[in-house]
Amino acid sequence: MNVPLIWIKHLRAVPLAAALAMVAASTWAGDTTPGQQLERFSAQAGAAGQAERGRVFFTSRHGGEWSCASCHGSPPTGSGKHAATGKAIEPLAPAFNPQAFTDTARVDKWLRRNCKDVAQRECSAAEKADVLAYLVSLKR
Ligand code: HEC
Repeated sequence: MNVPLIWIKHLRAVPLAAALAMVAASTWAGDTTPGQQLERFSAQAGAAGQAERGRVFFTSRHGGEWSCASCHGSPPTGSGKHAATGKAIEPLAPAFNPQAFTDTARVDKWLRRNCKDVAQRECSAAEKADVLAYLVSLKR
């Protein structure tokens, strides 16, 4: 008796989910992957990023009040919290946030801004490669 009802629900649910997925995709540039970003920074640095060095960089202060972890958490696998405004931040580790590191311009914009906040300068390519290696190494 219940089987046809369940089927009807499924038939209605699938096109809606597909439509929502299309809307989400159209508003997100999605031109890259975390792996490609790791390769990009490693190529710029001339050496592969190292996860342990990235972890140390991410969780340390560099002359200022904040580390990367001050806003993104340690490990950055859950929601972060902006150290100044308290605003929630999506998880930074890509295994916990499918949108992280999928838009090159967004990655560059935030790295520029956040490195200035933490280190009063832009991060080097080697530092970015190390941080990426660390973030990609964080698994569910
Ligand atoms: C003062 C708070 C703060 C600090 C400190 C901070 N971040 Fe962020 N970061 C943010 C916010 C806010 C965003 C945007 C999040 C959003 O829109 O969901 C962000 C986004 C990012 C992104 C973009 C991820 C993506 O693809 O969506 C990267 C990469 C990043 N941060 C790396 C770092 C690194 C590396 C450090 C340390 C050098 C750092 N952040 C320190 C607040 C901070």
